[in-house]
Amino acid sequence: MNEKAEPAGQADNDGSGLRLVLQQTAALPADRPMGMPGAFYASPEYFEWETQTVLRRGWHCLGRIDEIPNAGDYFTAHLLTEPLIVIRGDDDAIRVLSNVCRHRGMPLAEGAGNTKRLICSYHAWSYDRKGTLLRAARMENAGFDAKNCHLPKFNTVIWRGFIYCNLDPSAPAFVAQNPELGDLIAAYETDQFRLVHSGEEVWHTNWKCLVENFMEGYHLSVVHPKTLHEYTPTGLARKSASGAGFTAYTANYPEGAQPRGAGAPGLSAAEQRRSTLFAVFPTQVVSQAASLLVSLSIVPLAVDQIRVKWTMSTYGDDLDDATIQQRIALWQEVNREDREKLERMQVSLGSAHATAGPLAGEDYEGTIRDFQTWLARIDAGF
Ligand code: FES
Ligand SMILES: [Fe+2]
Repeated sequence: MNEKAEPAGQADNDGSGLRLVLQQTAALPADRPMGMPGAFYASPEYFEWETQTVLRRGWHCLGRIDEIPNAGDYFTAHLLTEPLIVIRGDDDAIRVLSNVCRHRGMPLAEGAGNTKRLICSYHAWSYDRKGTLLRAARMENAGFDAKNCHLPKFNTVIWRGFIYCNLDPSAPAFVAQNPELGDLIAAYETDQFRLVHSGEEVWHTNWKCLVENFMEGYHLSVVHPKTLHEYTPTGLARKSASGAGFTAYTANYPEGAQPRGAGAPGLSAAEQRRSTLFAVFPTQVVSQAASLLVSLSIVPLAVDQIRVKWTMSTYGDDLDDATIQQRIALWQEVNREDREKLERMQVSLGSAHATAGPLAGEDYEGTIRDFQTWLARIDAGF
C-alpha cells in the first residue's frame, strides 16, 4: 500500500514536479488531451521558475506602433523587473529603453505622452530620444563620463504593427518563430490598423489562465451568452494553424449574421466572416477580424496576478464613431465576463483537489494543447 498517496496536484506542488508533469502531459496522444493540475497555475515556486526561464527569455508584445505615431511619442511599460520606455525617435525608429535614470535610479517617465528630452525629476539629468545623456548639471568629478551613461536599450522587433521586446540579449530571435502565422493573417493588413482605444487592468489570475481562456472557443457560448454567442458561438469554433511560437483558432460567424465591416481589399469572403484568434507565446493574445483588431498583452506580476493591457484598432474608415464606441463597450463587457470567471477559478486552483482534467477536442481546446507543447519544449531546453 502506498502510504504516501496524496491527491495529484499536491504531490506536484513544486517547480521540478510540475516540470515533469508538463512533459508527460504534452506527450499524451492527441486524442487523449489533459489539462495541467491547479498547482501549475498556483505554485509560487513554479512561477519563480517561469520568471527565470520562459518569461525572461520570451518576446512580449508591449503595444502597437499606432499608439506612438509621431517622433517623441512614448508610453511606459513594466516587464518582470524592468521599467521600460517605448519611444519613437527623430529617425522614426521605435526603441525600448530602460526607464531607470543612470544617476541614482529614478524612473524617467510615467504614463504616456510626447517629449523632446527625457528629463529626470530628481536631479534633472536629461537624455535624448535615443537614450543618450545630453546634460548632467554640476557633474565635474573626474570619474564622470556622459558617454558611459546611455540608457540601456532592449532588443525590439516590430511585427504587423505590434512592438515586441525581449529582456534577454541571448534569447532566440523573434522573426523566424512564426512565418506560418504571418501567412494566416497576411490578408488582414494588420499593420495598417489604427488605434482607437487602450486600457489597463490588474486581474487576480495566473498569466497562463488568460492565455488559455482567450485561446479556447469552448467557453464562448457559456460565458458570453449575450456578448459573443450570437456572432461566435462555441459550435462554430475551429482549430486553425499552429506552429513554433503560436497557435490559432477561428471563431466563425453563423450564416445569416451580418458582416462586420469589409476590411482589407484582399480578404476572402470566408476571412470576412470569422475572427482569427491567435496567441504569440508566451503572453500575447489577439482577435483579428476584418475591421477590428483586439490585442491583449499579459504582464505577469505574481503567480496569481497579472496586468492586462489591451488595445483596440480598426481598419481604415470601416467603422463609424458610434460603432467603435459600441465595440469598445462590448469588449469591456467580454473582458469583465472572462475576468470574473478567471478570478474565481484562481482561488480553487490552489486546492489539493485541483487535479488535471480531460480537455475537449481539437476545435475547442486544441490550442491549450499547443500551448502545453510549446511550454514543454522551452522547458526542456533549460
Ligand atoms: S536620479 Fe536621475 S538625475 Fe538623479
Ligand atoms: Fe472569453
